[in-house]
Amino acid sequence: MMTPDFTRKPTLEGELIILRPATALDTPALSAGMDDAETARLTGSIHSDDDDPAGPWSLAELETIYERWSTADDRIVWAIVERSSGAVVGESVLNDLDVANLSCGFRIWISGARDRGLGTEATRLTMRHAFEEQGLNRVGLEVFDFNPRARRVYEKVGFVLEGTRREALRYNGEWVDAHDMAILAREWRVHRGNSERGAAVPA
Ligand SMILES: CC(C)(COP(=O)(O)OP(=O)(O)OC[C@H]1O[C@@H](n2cnc3c(N)ncnc32)[C@H](O)[C@@H]1OP(=O)(O)O)[C@@H](O)C(=O)NCCC(=O)NCCS
Repeated sequence: MMTPDFTRKPTLEGELIILRPATALDTPALSAGMDDAETARLTGSIHSDDDDPAGPWSLAELETIYERWSTADDRIVWAIVERSSGAVVGESVLNDLDVANLSCGFRIWISGARDRGLGTEATRLTMRHAFEEQGLNRVGLEVFDFNPRARRVYEKVGFVLEGTRREALRYNGEWVDAHDMAILAREWRVHRGNSERGAAVPA
């Protein structure tokens, strides 16, 4: 049986995007992308419209973090590069590797290039790597109730709703539920087959 090893960080090639392992050199582009109010709100990084989306980290601190992550054994951080422009438009991340249980977490954000199919392709490429190259059995994520676009993308790729943590986030003084979703290896195989054959993927 394949043993997961997140120090293996290959480049993943798609039609619209390339997922390239992020390094400290990507910090300015990734930092600029994160400095976006909608991204910060939808990823739970801020708690009101008045908060600074840039967060508390200096560029130098972020560089140190991306440098560490570029060799980390518990996460893979890919820069999402749009083929048509060559620009870094976001990141796709497998994190919290649990080797004993063959599971990990997933997070993604895209800035300035949303609603063009890039997020769906990035999620599919990342899941293909998780299940087919790393041999994982389960990938889980959290998505807030006020983010139907992300939920749609995850459902298309085969993630299943497992439960809801009620009022897990406070935003602008209002409570927002957080949904737990996950996809298992056998579900990925079904969904991958469906999308490769061009069949309608269940919503
Ligand atoms: C979530 C995210 C990665 C998706 O990537 P994307 O490139 O924008 O998404 P895609 O273009 O591949 O697909 C979007 C899908 O959502 C649908 N959609 C868009 N807005 C929607 C809405 N308000 N409600 C329901 N579905 C919606 C689109 O129609 C499309 O589905 P379709 O292919 O069936 O038509 C990206 O939008 C993003 O980074 N958003 C901000 C940060 C974020 O939300 N991160 C995830 C946190 S859990």
